Amino acid sequence: MPEARTFGSDMAAGMLEEGGEAGAHCAAGDEGAMPSNQASGRAARGDAASELLPIELENVDYAIGGTTVIEGLNLVLAEGPLTVLMGPNGAGKTMLLRLLQGLVAPTSGRITWGGTLLSRQKRVRLGLVFQKPVLLRRSVAANIAFAVGLRGRVRAGEVRAHLAAFDLAALSDRPARGLSGGEQQRLALARALALAPRVLLLDEPTASLDPASTRLIERHVLEAARNGIKIVFVTHDIGQARRLADEVIFLHRGRICEQSPAKHFFERPQSAAARAYLAGEILA
Ligand SMILES: Nc1ncnc2c1ncn2[C@@H]1O[C@H](COP(=O)(O)OP(=O)(O)OP(=O)(O)O)[C@@H](O)[C@H]1O
Ligand SMILES: [Mg+2]
Repeated sequence: MPEARTFGSDMAAGMLEEGGEAGAHCAAGDEGAMPSNQASGRAARGDAASELLPIELENVDYAIGGTTVIEGLNLVLAEGPLTVLMGPNGAGKTMLLRLLQGLVAPTSGRITWGGTLLSRQKRVRLGLVFQKPVLLRRSVAANIAFAVGLRGRVRAGEVRAHLAAFDLAALSDRPARGLSGGEQQRLALARALALAPRVLLLDEPTASLDPASTRLIERHVLEAARNGIKIVFVTHDIGQARRLADEVIFLHRGRICEQSPAKHFFERPQSAAARAYLAGEILA
């Protein structure tokens, strides 16, 4: 069953998806101060062996096709703040999520999850919704049922409840791959949350959604964060970043320009690159 194999390898990869100025050339290590924990209601913690946080990157480089696309990254993703990752096209946001997910290994440097390398036990609690979702060639309901089944026994009404929460109940029997782009994004997030992740990495999950669906996703993301799921959310939408972020990481040319509490980032961005980005200028 090739489809199941694809699914299985996705699971093995971690989650049910496919899978000029000083500031404009951000130096490694010039990120701002880490905010203290701001979100509350921490739940969903695992024991030490399955604990994923903090995720720590030390001097991480990643090169592909002879080009270094992630350079000298030092980063701590800690329990607490909802982290929004911003930066212009090609900055390395998707690549960083792939590194955080353990889908690719650093060319040099080191990443640890809760103080150790990424074990299978940890990996299954690390969810990723890709920029382009990849769904099983099954019905909408079967996509959710499979995810719930991987986590444990499927209780009566559970699949329906997940679908209803994402306004997908009416599409329950439709082939998942026949859904519109926005509907697929909603299903991808519903499926990722159905797996009860500890950490959820979201790569522009509302890029093709209408305003109502965008707000629905944002509500679920905020609720997940309140329930103790560590969220890393990539977006180009500055309004959305303001609505969601406790902290912002700004990436440019594969380097972190700053990691700041959201309020500081939007009111007083430290780097020229972030100031230019927020002003709508094209970054060289
Ligand atoms: N398979 C690949 N081969 C060569 N270069 C790649 C490959 N994948 C990504 N890159 C390059 O790595 C850099 C970072 O890409 P990445 O997809 O992480 O950017 P991004 O910040 O997510 O951009 P966007 O906002 O457009 O999604 C880009 O310059 C991209 O061209
Ligand atoms: Mg991207």
